[in-house]
Amino acid sequence: MSGIVIYKSKYGATKKYAEWISEATGFECVALDKADMKSLSGYDTIVFGGGVYASGIAGINVLRKNIEKIRDKKIICYCCAASPYDEKFFSELVKQNLKDGLEGLPCFYCRGTFDLQGMSFTDKTLCKMLRKAVAKKSPDEYEVWEAALMSVGENEKGDWTDRSYIDPILKCISGAAE
Ligand SMILES: Cc1cc2nc3c(=O)[nH]c(=O)nc-3n(C[C@H](O)[C@H](O)[C@H](O)COP(=O)(O)O)c2cc1C
Repeated sequence: MSGIVIYKSKYGATKKYAEWISEATGFECVALDKADMKSLSGYDTIVFGGGVYASGIAGINVLRKNIEKIRDKKIICYCCAASPYDEKFFSELVKQNLKDGLEGLPCFYCRGTFDLQGMSFTDKTLCKMLRKAVAKKSPDEYEVWEAALMSVGENEKGDWTDRSYIDPILKCISGAAE
């Protein structure tokens, strides 16, 4: 079985999961920006991973644009965000992103990082503004991802990456679970 892992990662967590999946399966691992989407028809399995920024899965539009060419392949998605896994948060994320032709694709959650100091100036400014807005709420009103955003200090790094998040992805690849 041939396969490829394509990922879109700004700060490394989605890439780390892609590399773990690649290690475990022997699949090639390629950054979306370097991937030749025309070559995807040569693989049996395509794993797509994207980081989550402001509730959007990065790179998902590229997958949508190419979906008809690879419809007959086994396509598996995962996304990587700072929030702890939460059913409501995740199903909302899937609903918002896996639409317009991507409905029903298996999608998995892998928890990532949150590191204000490591962010680009724009992202840092955006996240700081967000934290200011969220700080006005009472902590018991925080959405799960807002709580994650607030739990890490300005000079700390939250790193929740964990290899065990790929276990269900590997099972899905091997056909043990969908
Ligand atoms: C601008 C920005 C917006 C983000 N928005 C969200 C969000 O809506 N929900 C969430 O859980 N995490 C959010 N995060 C955290 C990222 O999803 C997290 O850092 C993840 O590890 C990103 O993947 P990457 O490390 O592959 O870039 C955001 C991070 C940035 C920089």
